[in-house]
Amino acid sequence: MFAMPIAEQTSASTALDLTRVRAQFPSLAQAVHGHPMVFLDGPGGTQVPQRVIDAIADYLARNNANTGGAYQTSRNTDRMIAEARSAMADFLNCDADEIVFGPNMTTLTFAMSRAIGRELGPGDEIVLTLLDHDANFSPWKALEEKGVTIRTVKFSEADCTLDMHDLAAKIGSRTRLVAVGYASNAVGTINNVAEVVRLARQAGALSYIDAVHYAPHGPIDVRALDCDFLVCSTYKFFGPHMGVLYGKREHLKRLHPYKVRPSHDDIPYRWEWGTLNHECIAGIKACVDYWEELGRRARPMVTTRRAAILAAHEAIHEHERKMLEKMIAGLLAIPGLKLYGISDPRRFDNRCPTFAVRIAGHTPLELATKLGERGFFTWDGNYYALNLTEQLDVERLGGFLRIGLAHYNTMQEVERLLAALREIVG
Ligand SMILES: Cc1ncc(COP(=O)(O)O)c(C=O)c1O
Repeated sequence: MFAMPIAEQTSASTALDLTRVRAQFPSLAQAVHGHPMVFLDGPGGTQVPQRVIDAIADYLARNNANTGGAYQTSRNTDRMIAEARSAMADFLNCDADEIVFGPNMTTLTFAMSRAIGRELGPGDEIVLTLLDHDANFSPWKALEEKGVTIRTVKFSEADCTLDMHDLAAKIGSRTRLVAVGYASNAVGTINNVAEVVRLARQAGALSYIDAVHYAPHGPIDVRALDCDFLVCSTYKFFGPHMGVLYGKREHLKRLHPYKVRPSHDDIPYRWEWGTLNHECIAGIKACVDYWEELGRRARPMVTTRRAAILAAHEAIHEHERKMLEKMIAGLLAIPGLKLYGISDPRRFDNRCPTFAVRIAGHTPLELATKLGERGFFTWDGNYYALNLTEQLDVERLGGFLRIGLAHYNTMQEVERLLAALREIVG
C-alpha cells in the first residue's frame, strides 16, 4: 500500500478539509506500478469511505435477514431500511415514502417506463434528448412498440448544450413525458432542468430527470424543481452500487407496477420487487451520514441533516470549481487537444468537472491505457452517451477520453495528470 504524503493531499484553503476527506477513503492510498492511484473515473463510479464499507460488513455480520419477520434481525433490517429511506429523502428533499430503492438507475427506469407505458398508445408522444445517457433514452424508446411517438431534442455541437428552442418546439399537446438528464455524464453540461420541468408541466406532461451524473456535484431539490420523477445512483456519490428513484406520491399511488400479488401494495413498497440488496441499503444510510458529517464540519452552525447536505455540496463545489478551472486551462494548452463541451470560464456554472477530450494522433483507448499505466484512472469510449458520440461523429473513432473529478481529488493530482498527458502526447 502506498501512503500519499500529506503535502499531496491538501489544496488551497476551502471549507473542505481535504486531508480528512481523503483519509476516509482507503482506496485512495493505493499504488499501481509504483505510482499513486489517481481516481479520475468518478463518472463511472466513485470510491467509498470506510464508514460505508463498515456499514455493509456490519449489516452482513449482525443483521442479515429478510424483511417483515417476527424476530430481531428482521426487525432491525426493517428499521435500517426505513432510516436509509429517510436519509435519501433528505438528500433529494422529499418524503421517505417517495423514495424507491432498486438495483440501479437503468433497471428502475425500465420498470417505470413499462408502468407509464401501460397507459400510452398511438397518438401519445415522449420527448427525449440526444445529450442523455442511453439509460434515459432506450427505456422510453422501447415504448415505440406500443405506438408511442418519440421526439428527440438536439444539442449544439459547438458547446454540447441542449437546444432549448428545439426542446420547447418538440413539446406539445400530445406530449405525455419529457425525459432529460440533469447533467451529461460524457461532456459535463448541466441542463436547465427547472425550465424543462416547467415546459413539461405547462403541456400537461410528466417530467423524468436523470440526476445520476449531477448528484455528486450539485444539490438536488425535487420539491423546488417540482419534477414528477428523478433517478440517481448511489455508487456515483460515494455509496454502494444501487439506484434510487424519487416519484411524486400521487404518481407512485396511481400508476400500476408489474408486481407479485403477495408483496405490499402501499407506496413505496409496491415499486420494490423481490428482496432488495439490504447490505447496500445499509451502505446508503452510511453514505448520507458521510455527506452530513462533511457538511457539519464545513458549516458547524447547520441544524438539520438536509442543511448539512447542502453545506457539503457548497464546500464540494468550491473545491471542484478550482480544480475545474485549472484542468480546463491546462487541457486547452495541450497541442492537438479538443475539449468537447463548455470551455468559456463565464459559463463554468453550467458544467460539471467532467471532461471529454480527443487528442490528434491518439485514440482515447491508447490515452486511457497510457494514463492507467501511470496511475491515472480515466475512461474511454461513449459511456453509453451513444447519441452524443454518434452525433459528434466520434463513435467510429473510439469516442472520447473522459477525465472526471470528484471532491476527493486534489489540485496536485490535476497538475500531475496534465503533466502526464503532455508527456504522453510529446
Ligand atoms: C447520466 C447517467 N445516467 C444513467 C446511468 C446509468 O446508471 P446505472 O448504472 O445506475 O443504471 C449512468 C451510468 O453511468 C449515467 O452516468
